[in-house]
Amino acid sequence: MEAIILLGGPGAGKGTLAESLKQKTDYLHVSTGDMLRAALKSGSPVGLEAKSYMEAGELVPDSVILRIIEERIAQEPAGARFMFDGFPRTLEQAEGLEAILEKHSGTITHVFKLDVPRETLLQRLTGRRVCKACGAVYHVINMPPQKEGVCDVDGGELYQRADDSEETILNRLEVYEKQTAPLIDHYQQRGLIRDIDADQDAEKTTTLVLDVFNG
Ligand code: AP5
Repeated sequence: MEAIILLGGPGAGKGTLAESLKQKTDYLHVSTGDMLRAALKSGSPVGLEAKSYMEAGELVPDSVILRIIEERIAQEPAGARFMFDGFPRTLEQAEGLEAILEKHSGTITHVFKLDVPRETLLQRLTGRRVCKACGAVYHVINMPPQKEGVCDVDGGELYQRADDSEETILNRLEVYEKQTAPLIDHYQQRGLIRDIDADQDAEKTTTLVLDVFNG
């Protein structure tokens, strides 16, 4: 079992990059944000527990996150390759992941740190729109749908995520700096960080990451 981690602030383009890498590699995309939003939509106990944290832009407790990750990993065969998006987000989650991987004789091969300036993060998040039906992600300026407010894939209605309000975005950025940015040192010490200039179009960012894989 192998894993890579996409690390970057809110709006850095982790989900967009993961979708693109999914088409070009055999990595399974595991986004804790998507898993929590699905749990919220279905009204499951995990969703109910996560709701207030997500609405405020705070982190959901580590114990909840590690439980859903452990369950997700257990669903796949021993040789699976995972691409984690939005996880881990705290040192406790990073250590929890290492313990889970150890049980499966798994290892982390790369941590891609997506570097994007704060102004770009804000611009990306305020303009993001998501399909209610399939979850496809757009941006009103950078990646607009063919028809305003309508998903190109399935004609679903596009909406703005509740946590993409300006006030919540500012809190998410602060939470990232305080709780997630320390992971950079953690992975730097293990020689796993790969810096990616992600302040450019999505295709170029994907190419940079694939270049690392291809040596
Ligand atoms: P989560 O869903 O993980 O949110 P996030 O980390 O804030 O990241 P985003 O999904 O906002 O952004 P992204 O980097 O994926 O960017 P995207 O590709 O969409 O988490 C949400 C909440 O869930 C958290 O606040 C927390 O409460 C909870 N949670 C989740 N995981 C947790 C965990 N492990 N522990 C505790 N709590 C957790 O792109 C953004 C926009 O930019 C889009 O409009 C896109 O079209 C555009 N764009 C993307 N790339 C480019 C590009 N290269 N050029 C131009 N535009 C681009």
